[in-house]
Amino acid sequence: MSPFRTVRGMRDFLPKEAEKMRYVEQVTRDLAQLYGYREVITPIVESYDLLAAKSGEEIRKRMYAFEDLGGRRVALRPEFTASIARLIATKMRNEPKPMRLFCVGSLYRYDEPQYGRFREFWQANYELIGSTKPEADAEILMLTYDLMEKLGLRNYWLKIGHVGIIRGILAQEDVKKEQQNMVMQLLDKKQWDEALTAARELGVSQRCVTTLKNVFKIRGKDVSQVLKKTEENVRDYESAVAAVENLREITELTRKSNAKFEMLVEAGFARGLEYYTGMIFEPYVPEMNIALSGGGRYDKLIELFGGEPTPAVGVAQGMDRLALAVKKQKFSPKIPEGKRVVIIPIGEKLRARVLELSLALRGVGIPVEVEVMGRTVSKALQDADRRNVTHAVIVGSEELKENKVVLRDMKKREQKTVKIRNLSQEILKT
Ligand code: HAM
Repeated sequence: MSPFRTVRGMRDFLPKEAEKMRYVEQVTRDLAQLYGYREVITPIVESYDLLAAKSGEEIRKRMYAFEDLGGRRVALRPEFTASIARLIATKMRNEPKPMRLFCVGSLYRYDEPQYGRFREFWQANYELIGSTKPEADAEILMLTYDLMEKLGLRNYWLKIGHVGIIRGILAQEDVKKEQQNMVMQLLDKKQWDEALTAARELGVSQRCVTTLKNVFKIRGKDVSQVLKKTEENVRDYESAVAAVENLREITELTRKSNAKFEMLVEAGFARGLEYYTGMIFEPYVPEMNIALSGGGRYDKLIELFGGEPTPAVGVAQGMDRLALAVKKQKFSPKIPEGKRVVIIPIGEKLRARVLELSLALRGVGIPVEVEVMGRTVSKALQDADRRNVTHAVIVGSEELKENKVVLRDMKKREQKTVKIRNLSQEILKT
């Protein structure tokens, strides 16, 4: 036994798993194209300060941070949004808005490994930059709905909130941003009582404590009802009322788009990242109690990185969790099955001929594997069966004299002799 194994929290993707992951990736790429998001590729290693700026305490303390050999403080990216905001603040500063950017790749967080939580994981990330309008938020929600549909997921819902509700209340009580963050982090962990205690300790009024207490309890799938109730409760807090109104516009627009999915509005909903300024959301399926993806509006981040004031909204689709959800709902994605051919020589003398034929078939786009183990035809065919090969080409000297080979249809278990010049057509038509 080799003493080497993967590092804790890291995974190998063997061919079947890799195929599933790449399938999810392909669906996310197709979606990016459908919505007009253009791909950018950013580095895995970024400056620690950039990544730490507004990522939130939870992510900050779990970053793979180190000093490189040049003495720079760097980290492996725990998410894409900071890198995108850096791009907009620097190299893409003068691009006309709106900008729709897509990126996909691996991210790193020193999380405790458990179901759906890894130290290296994958996201497909979409950012819509330059618009403050609710239709931009609605687009990100619709795109997420579309992805769930395209992956064939069922019974999912989007949990939706707005950070402006709680932050608006706290700001009016003169609670500073950093102190608000503490309360938001506790809410992110669903520690409502602790969040209330924290707010109390920050010296907020009794009216505020009562309002927060009520607001933390408001959630439900009847969107207009929930928003109405929230608005009634926060009516003394002007910007919290504006946040509810904004959420109303976003959800109504989304509803009218005909995107048919369930929304669960939660008035006290918070997400770990500190850069959010508006609507936030996460999709769920009943089989898993972890968010499949996460997103929201962040209107101040680009400015913080030295760019022009630029509003933005986006989402990171968690590819590992989406693949798990597909598996949990017990269906295999329809990965299109193509032709898969093996070529087997009868005897070593025909090895060169087989290599030549393989090159010719690949030349017309047919995937070919050559028998390289020196096995007999029957052994090689047994192996081909095991690997779901669609066709076997058996090359023997008798047939070759007439420029022919034997073509075997592995599924039907039928074979016939065909002219070499007709071989690719014969493979393609069956
Ligand atoms: P996030 O909620 O930190 O948001 O991550 C988004 C998704 O990435 C999660 O819902 C989950 O599917 C996946 N994910 C996160 N951590 C792990 C992990 N340890 N193992 C497996 N999957 C994980 C962001 O990253 C924001 N940048 C989203 C965003 C984009 N907001 C605006 N634009």
